[in-house]
Amino acid sequence: MFPRVVREPARVPRRLQQALQGLLGGRLPWPAYVFGPAGVGKTCAALLVHDTVPEAFWADAELLAEHAYEQASWPWRFASRANLVIVDEVGCRSRSSEREYLGVKRMADQCHRLGVPVLWVSNLTPEQLRQHFDDRVFSRLCCGTVIPVEGEDQRFSGFPIKSQVPPPEPSR
Ligand SMILES: Nc1ncnc2c1ncn2[C@@H]1O[C@H](COP(=O)(O)OP(=O)(O)OP(=O)(O)O)[C@@H](O)[C@H]1O
Ligand SMILES: [Mg+2]
Repeated sequence: MFPRVVREPARVPRRLQQALQGLLGGRLPWPAYVFGPAGVGKTCAALLVHDTVPEAFWADAELLAEHAYEQASWPWRFASRANLVIVDEVGCRSRSSEREYLGVKRMADQCHRLGVPVLWVSNLTPEQLRQHFDDRVFSRLCCGTVIPVEGEDQRFSGFPIKSQVPPPEPSR
């Protein structure tokens, strides 16, 4: 599912911004593995990349898991025609399922075969990724540029959403 959230370039953590510019400018090697704690702005930063790259394909690991066993279903076809693939929420479940493993590995292999750069986004450190999946997935996702993201949880620093619920009628 493509997240529909407002994103501002100025709120992307500086180190991540620099690394993404290096990747898009061809100065850093693909694939990219972006990881960090909840709310630091990984998904918003990846969405900003998606906004700027025409023909980028967005998926989350759950979608790849759902389609893992389907031969030529739309995520594999769309990703094969993309010039950048972004996969969010890698390893977000507490345990890796066989479907998630196969989906992630299949996307990594397909993109490698076709020469399509991939931006992987996760909460797991590279070592946790290795433990969650195995050496083979770790190797495929972390062999290019690994980008740790630090900072505040931005969910706590935004404007609170005002309630739209009308107040109750006064009792008589
Ligand atoms: N660049 C940005 N522009 C606007 N808002 C942002 C930006 N980065 C973060 N935020 C705010 O912080 C919230 C969390 O950001 P985001 O979803 O990118 O975090 P995350 O690192 O992907 O977290 P998680 O690990 O939980 O998926 C967003 O919903 C948004 O309110
Ligand atoms: Mg996220």
